[in-house]
Amino acid sequence: MAEFSLRGLLAERAGEGLALYGRHSNPRFVEILRILGFDRHWERAEGPYLFDRDGTRYLDWLGGFGMYNVGRNNPTVRAALAEFLELQTASLPQLGLTDLPGLLAEALVSVAPASTDRVVFVNTGTEAVEAAIKLGRAAAGRPRVVATENGFHGLTLGSMSVNGSAEARARFGPLLPDVVHVPFDDLDALEAEFAREDVALFVTEPVQGQGVILPGWDYLAGAQRLCRKYGTLFCVDEVQTGFGRTGRMFASQHWGLEPDMVTVAKGLSGGYVPVGALLLRRSVHEAVFDSLEHATSHGSTFAPNDAAMVAGLATLHELAERDLTDRAARIGAYLLERTMPLLERYDVVKDVRGLGLMWAVEFGEPAGGSRTWRFIDGRQPALFSQFVIGPLFREHHILSQVAGHRINVLKGLPPLVVKESDIDWFADALDSVLAKTRSLSRAALGFATRAVARRR
Ligand SMILES: Cc1ncc(COP(=O)(O)O)c(C=O)c1O
Repeated sequence: MAEFSLRGLLAERAGEGLALYGRHSNPRFVEILRILGFDRHWERAEGPYLFDRDGTRYLDWLGGFGMYNVGRNNPTVRAALAEFLELQTASLPQLGLTDLPGLLAEALVSVAPASTDRVVFVNTGTEAVEAAIKLGRAAAGRPRVVATENGFHGLTLGSMSVNGSAEARARFGPLLPDVVHVPFDDLDALEAEFAREDVALFVTEPVQGQGVILPGWDYLAGAQRLCRKYGTLFCVDEVQTGFGRTGRMFASQHWGLEPDMVTVAKGLSGGYVPVGALLLRRSVHEAVFDSLEHATSHGSTFAPNDAAMVAGLATLHELAERDLTDRAARIGAYLLERTMPLLERYDVVKDVRGLGLMWAVEFGEPAGGSRTWRFIDGRQPALFSQFVIGPLFREHHILSQVAGHRINVLKGLPPLVVKESDIDWFADALDSVLAKTRSLSRAALGFATRAVARRR
């Protein structure tokens, strides 16, 4: 009988991944990668860098959609997982517990906003949001959920229902009933909904991931006040903003918030093992898990598995040991310092904003109007951003993303281990790409637009 060898398999089938994925999983996605020229054969990764098969180093400006906070293949997390495999723990006895879930719950509570001191483990961000909706409704004994326009909370049905884009929700209905959306950063709209006194919970990201939208400074504290006034639970979705991303362990801590529920996932994984959690105020937890009969009101076969717990524990250790949260604040400030001047330099740059290492540059039509801009935007809204991320990748070896569908925003969520020299790499590259877009020829535009049209 042949032994399984991972090295052997990878050597034998090297370079077949894209074609196989296209054939057996998602041909449209592979097509997009090819059109954008993102169809590299990735071989290895370390910290904030990816390496392709030719050994070329790329800067990872999207950090696996913001989950590689401690860097790719972080040595501490990797060593902890290797040790875990050696130990052959009794993970998930199901009717029983190993020590690890309790240890991670304790560690999470020690860094969470002080108001939340119970942990319900799940596997992913969207599952954390599903848990918040489900348990929040039960705890409040009310049906309605209020969420924000342009919010993003995941792609399963409950999370989709609270997502703020009507267009993205449209194909998948009917979704959850009794969910309403209000504009982000609008306390009057919130109060109008809460005043009916039937809203179980209000779900919001502290900084919206789609476009990196920062609310006015008083909004979140105001929303919390209104939640208290009308008996609505305040749920802050920190799936993207958590674990140091914004320069605090949780973004809620910038405003001293005391949420009733906090959803977390992404960064806790160390980039290795999916893990998520819903952090709850004790009284909210007690309201749902209120009897022996209700002791298992929520859960999943895989949560809380020991591999995920180890990844979480090692990640929290690494964040503290390497001071990555303060580092995100410091390097994030440097990133703004390096990229703010683009506002002066380029008419198409409308805003540069960020909190810690959650950063964005927004493009728009130059003042006074531009035929070229209208030509591009008329073909597809937010197409200009594609003209920027393409050359950033091909010519400057930076992997970056557009911040959302039809949003002319280039977003950055790099691993928190990026160095000042990496920020210089990015800022210089962006400057150079923007300088070149000034002289985009109509022929080049026509070609690029046709390529994007084929994608649809
Ligand atoms: C704020 C927020 N909530 C929830 C999710 C969903 O997380 P996951 O992709 O792990 O399901 C995301 C993912 O991008 C997110 O940014």
